[in-house]
Amino acid sequence: METNDIYLLMQKAHEVKENSYSPYSNFRVGAAIKMDDDHIFTGANIENVSFGATNCAERSAIFTALSAGYQRKTIKAIAVAGDTEDFLPPCSICRQVMVEFCEPDTPVYLTREDQSILTTSVKELVPFAFETMDM
Ligand code: THU
Repeated sequence: METNDIYLLMQKAHEVKENSYSPYSNFRVGAAIKMDDDHIFTGANIENVSFGATNCAERSAIFTALSAGYQRKTIKAIAVAGDTEDFLPPCSICRQVMVEFCEPDTPVYLTREDQSILTTSVKELVPFAFETMDM
């Protein structure tokens, strides 16, 4: 993706972070995903007093797109934003969800306090993935 588009997507991830419901961790995360038709969906982390019920920002965004009717493998790029000094990597549950709904070479953009962006990919985040056998 072009640099400007990456920064715009990251901006959206930062913006939606404001909607994070994270009273237990006080750790706000936002994610923005661009679809193959350039539509953008966003998601924030939504926690629960029963901690296991928490939904990460990445999954919030991906599930929102799927719920809106988008099919698997129509995600063009993912941006994740936190308030961390270093790059904030997606958790392993979100990585597995990315494997299900993204292509291996789908770019995942991470950022950190100094606003720099690290580009990784689903394949790089999950090199030896358990993938659907198209059951
Ligand atoms: N979290 C995310 O939303 N995405 C990540 O990639 C890492 C972790 C959330 C889950 C929880 O609400 C909080 O951050 C602390 O783990």
